[in-house]
Amino acid sequence: MDPDPGPAETPPRAVVLVGFMAAGKSRVGRALAETLGWRFVDLDAEIEREAGRTIPEIFAEEGEPRFRALEAEAGGRLLAAPDRLVLATGGGWGAAEGRLRDLPKGILSVWLRVHPEVAVERALRQAPGRPLLDRHDDPVAAARALLREREGCYAEAALHIDTNEKDPDEVVRDILERMHGADPLSAPHT
Ligand code: S3P
Repeated sequence: MDPDPGPAETPPRAVVLVGFMAAGKSRVGRALAETLGWRFVDLDAEIEREAGRTIPEIFAEEGEPRFRALEAEAGGRLLAAPDRLVLATGGGWGAAEGRLRDLPKGILSVWLRVHPEVAVERALRQAPGRPLLDRHDDPVAAARALLREREGCYAEAALHIDTNEKDPDEVVRDILERMHGADPLSAPHT
């Protein structure tokens, strides 16, 4: 169930988007940051830039645990200085136990919800590059199982937004509406 905590007491200084693969975190994040006039960072792109390799290459050459370590490190560093930042994370970041619960005050977490069937359909339309789906003969079954494992962690986000039948602009509008009480457009610099 959506916990909807209502308007935050103080405007958020940063928004972190979490959720399953192909939920639209990057596209929504970029558009949200543009609307707010905030900085946008895509965590996967940041990891790739720093490692000088693509995510499938990191998975293939060093394994998933190494990718998770890079992901945790880059996410922690970005959220240590979160002013006026929209961070789109990869699907595994918000699925780490306690990560959303322990976010510093002022960082609004948003779970972009997507059904596994919709996620796989969207992912197949996009370029390959998701090792956790690409290696399965039945990606829908794999997505269902992975989402079931992760849902409890994603659900700790402060806002839950359904993306299934929406385009990214509608999702951005939903987020802004839900943030409205926090007056995000007048969020201070410091
Ligand atoms: C992953 C999701 C991917 C990427 C990596 C692992 C996951 O990001 O970080 O392939 O564990 O769900 P997207 O959620 O942007 O596809």
